[in-house]
Amino acid sequence: MTPVLEVRGLTKRFARAIVLDGLSFSLARGEVLGLLGPNGAGKTTTFLCLCGLLRPDAGTIAYEGKALGGNRGSTISLIPESPDVYPMLTVWEHLAFVARSVRLAPGWEVRANALLERFGMTEHRDALGQALSKGMRQKTLIAATVLADAPVLLLDEPMIGLDPRGQRELRDLIASLRSNGTSILMSTHLIESAEAMCDRLIIMKAGIAVATGNVATLRSSESDGRSLEDIFLDVTA
Ligand SMILES: Nc1ncnc2c1ncn2[C@@H]1O[C@H](COP(=O)(O)OP(=O)(O)OP(=O)(O)O)[C@@H](O)[C@H]1O
Ligand SMILES: [Mg+2]
Repeated sequence: MTPVLEVRGLTKRFARAIVLDGLSFSLARGEVLGLLGPNGAGKTTTFLCLCGLLRPDAGTIAYEGKALGGNRGSTISLIPESPDVYPMLTVWEHLAFVARSVRLAPGWEVRANALLERFGMTEHRDALGQALSKGMRQKTLIAATVLADAPVLLLDEPMIGLDPRGQRELRDLIASLRSNGTSILMSTHLIESAEAMCDRLIIMKAGIAVATGNVATLRSSESDGRSLEDIFLDVTA
């Protein structure tokens, strides 16, 4: 089966520093792939290259077997690390903006309202971006990005900053997107939630994948049933 997303030899330099050093991985339909790695490992850089916000120096990114072109908005969506919203747009206007940008079919408002409701944002629907707390900004971006309904969804540290209810809703939302066939790549520092949510994991260090597999294979390849945290600390040491 052709993977939905196939990344080969992704390389990115900033000045002389190599930040991604030939990273390769694939993502299947309906798979949740976790990207772990210490600060500075290159997770955010990977996301920015995948969604076209950074130009890689080398490597290929294929979507359903074909090289990914410039216009990726309706194929790959990113929920970024820092939740920057438009200060002068309301929460609802963020959703409407996305709906128009990716030309959602009429009736998108029903899904948009359900997403706001899920994250407890209905009462903040008409609040300006500049008046939102950090977690509310994050929820706005999650709702707006998921509304776009792209087949590949990238989440960069999505849990940080969400309250417990928001984390639960996001976990449930990811599970339901996954069962509808959305392919998800998410970075996280929360090893327990990676273990609970992801089908497979990539552990990155200095721009390469130092370990890949599901939790069970990572454990058996790294011997004697140690915790994922031990394995992480070991392979990124
Ligand atoms: N615009 C930039 N200019 C120069 N160096 C950069 C730039 N962006 C990132 N880097 C460097 O690239 C490396 C990888 O950064 P990146 O943000 O991808 O890491 P990360 O794995 O997302 O880390 P974190 O867990 O802290 O979010 C770091 O060494 C960082 O300093
Ligand atoms: Mg990052």
